[in-house]
Amino acid sequence: MLSLAELTNYFSSRNIEFKLEYFSREFFVVKFEDSFNPEKIKDLGGTIKIGEIKTTIPNEVVKEAFLSKNKQAQKKIVELLAGSSISKMMTKTTKKLLFGVSVYFTDNAFSHFSGQIQRFIGSSIKKELEKSGISSNFMGYTKDRKAQLSNVEVLKKNLIENQSEILFCIGKKEAWVASTVAIHNPFEFQKRDIYKPNQRKIFGMPPRLARIMVNLSGCNDGKILLDSFCGVGTILQEALLEEVMVVGVDVNSWCVKAAEENLDWLSREYNLSAADYRVVQGDVDRLTEKIGVESVDCIVSEPDLGPALKDFPTVPYAEKIIEKLKPMFFRFIEEAYKVLRPNGRLVLVTPYIRTRSRQAVTMPVDEKISSCGFRRVHSFSREMFNEELNIGQLVHTATLIEADDRHKIGREIHVLQK
Ligand SMILES: C[S@@+](CC[C@H](N)C(=O)[O-])C[C@H]1O[C@@H](n2cnc3c(N)ncnc32)[C@H](O)[C@@H]1O
Repeated sequence: MLSLAELTNYFSSRNIEFKLEYFSREFFVVKFEDSFNPEKIKDLGGTIKIGEIKTTIPNEVVKEAFLSKNKQAQKKIVELLAGSSISKMMTKTTKKLLFGVSVYFTDNAFSHFSGQIQRFIGSSIKKELEKSGISSNFMGYTKDRKAQLSNVEVLKKNLIENQSEILFCIGKKEAWVASTVAIHNPFEFQKRDIYKPNQRKIFGMPPRLARIMVNLSGCNDGKILLDSFCGVGTILQEALLEEVMVVGVDVNSWCVKAAEENLDWLSREYNLSAADYRVVQGDVDRLTEKIGVESVDCIVSEPDLGPALKDFPTVPYAEKIIEKLKPMFFRFIEEAYKVLRPNGRLVLVTPYIRTRSRQAVTMPVDEKISSCGFRRVHSFSREMFNEELNIGQLVHTATLIEADDRHKIGREIHVLQK
């Protein structure tokens, strides 16, 4: 959901016309009015692979072929693959061509068959390549492995250069067969995380999430972004890479210096000669005084989310944590409204505390945000989706949750507009 919200906000803020043909937890299918440069994957924190669709196969055929082992349906798939440009696109290298197949599916009925599907598609492609005189090696896997290549494998084996990873994505009505054209490079994000001069293990935010939050704010080229709880500057770094002017504020003077040094390092490392940044020490209580009224286009911030917890707390204890943090969050929302320019956006993280009884305890900000004058930005609207698609409650999604099973305190992300 977070990755999909990042995409819709990224496209909308850049006036890129798109339609979501399909979405699931595993993959999205997007149709663009004009072309979309897949290299832009480096701007996105939540997208792992981008594929170009080569052909589609009706779902009944896929089910018949793999769940019922129907020979006619299998033959149909071989024909459809042969008729597509998939094998012709693969670049002939001097050595044997190495190619791979990754299978994604929405319906769990396919989970036991994904390895078989992978091998079937692989051997069909291998035969097609042989017909054109290309000898190839298929990256097959042992049965216990997920039938998907990781982005690291795709990168290391140069499958993008050779257009030789095939994505077989099974949706509810059809399957899309695509060729991977761009891949998320985890080493670039990792480099910004572990090689920056100053790091903080406990409060640090992963750069991928920081990038998603910057994209949710819609802030790009030439605009001004403020992080008023900047810590060591992870959000500021990601924004600076989008050629945004950044301002950081933190109450802790060590953080101010650390963030400054990190931004100096980033500018050198990425040759950002026009980078425009400043970091100041200050308390959000007096943000207007420090930054000025209506002086920034976006604010993207993660304030302190509460104490580090060893165990899942009880509901009363979680409520106590929220009560303690509330005045600081409320004061910040008031100040943020004043500092933002008209139509400016605030992307705010509030704590999402998972308790022993599994009930989540969250920060009740609704009344505060509307009394200040903010309105919620909904990342999804009906027009973004193919009209035949059942999108359920998606358009009513108000906040985005980032919390995995291990986290006692996760994040609730609010996108607000002045
Ligand atoms: C969760 S950390 C932010 C982490 C940051 N996104 C990063 O990746 O480094 C919250 C930061 O808010 C700062 N802070 C806490 N209370 C503050 C206040 N009242 N005004 C300004 N900064 C504050 C803390 O010093 C801390 O660095």
